[in-house]
Amino acid sequence: MEAMKILVTGGTGYIGSHTVVELIQSGHEVEILDNLYNSDAGVLLKIAELAGVEPKFYEVDLRDKTALKQVMRDGGYEAVIHFAGLKAVAESVENPLTYYENNVGGTVNLLEAMEEFGVRKLIFSSSATVYGDQEAPFVETMETGRAIANPYGRTKYMIEEIIKDLCKADEGFEATILRYFNPIGAHESGLIGEEPKGIPNNLMPIIMKVATGEMAELLVCGDDYETTDGSAERDYIHVMDLAQGHVAAIAKMQPGVTVYNLGTGRGVSVLEMVKAFEKVSGSPLTYKIVGRRAGDLAVVYADASKAERELGWKATRTVDEAMRDTLKFLGLSARD
Ligand code: NAD
Ligand code: WQD
Repeated sequence: MEAMKILVTGGTGYIGSHTVVELIQSGHEVEILDNLYNSDAGVLLKIAELAGVEPKFYEVDLRDKTALKQVMRDGGYEAVIHFAGLKAVAESVENPLTYYENNVGGTVNLLEAMEEFGVRKLIFSSSATVYGDQEAPFVETMETGRAIANPYGRTKYMIEEIIKDLCKADEGFEATILRYFNPIGAHESGLIGEEPKGIPNNLMPIIMKVATGEMAELLVCGDDYETTDGSAERDYIHVMDLAQGHVAAIAKMQPGVTVYNLGTGRGVSVLEMVKAFEKVSGSPLTYKIVGRRAGDLAVVYADASKAERELGWKATRTVDEAMRDTLKFLGLSARD
């Protein structure tokens, strides 16, 4: 494998920090750019503890073109892995312009800076949300952009299109778009994990808040879907599998745009998640069934075969392992 010097935007965030550890351990040199809007610089020391090297850090906002260009000019990077962005679905409905400015505008600035300084390899964090309301399993060849439920999801679709246009205009540009399904879990050391600021919206952080007593109960949104137990199914992927997917992707860059789903290929229901938590923790989880959440699909899971075929990567960790690692990160004990 060819070692590269890589700039990771959003590298102090949840998925970024786990990926940085894996990149360093695979021999890459990594620098991080993040505005710390949704993360903490303290994670840098934890990355150093896990990977043996503390990555150089730039506290820069992607909307600050001058600062961004300075980093790109001085860095001598061969590739950029672009995680930085806002990701709260409900907030994007309330403040769409903030999402377009930050996610779409920030990415345009990043691509401009890359073009100016000759950095022509990009991995972009996209999402299963770009498939809209089609029937699972979602395959990379499916149409995207229709019936996307919220502005956050549309920023991902728009950025994908912008990257495709750039690759048409600049034939030497190499872009890999990774569509993540539902990332969960933490590094097996328990040193790094997901630390959402504010009230969480996603299932796994809510389960954990109920476990710590910070929230009274989990509201299970819908038990009347056409699934085995009536609750909605998602493709929950361990964040370390996801991190390793990036290491596999950076080793196989090619001119033009290549898209991969990163998921497990299997749907797990909300009630199965509750049972997995109870089994791994040995404690009951208080929950109540309520009505469906607006905009939710019944079943979402990946066709994950392309990444396996072309990158030699597949998710190997289970939901139980993700529960165990998250409990460890939160300092809560698992049953064994
Ligand atoms: P995160 O919030 O933990 O990490 C994103 C990081 O980007 C944060 O550290 C934040 O401070 C930084 N950031 C945001 N705007 C910035 C800006 N303008 N300039 C510089 N830094 C900025 O989120 P995450 O869960 O690690 O997600 C990483 C990426 O993966 C995001 O692009 C997200 O949309 C995408 N994604 C996440 C999920 C998920 O469920 N977590 C699913 C699919 C795709
Ligand atoms: C998972 C399941 C809920 C909360 C979102 C984004 C998507 C991607 C991942 C970034 C669903 C159920 C949830 C609760 C519940 N992010 N649930 N009670 O909606 O699949 O995807 O995060 O790209 O774009 O839309 O994830 O974790 O919110 O929900 O029953 O209090 O848990 O109905 O079935 P979702 P989630």
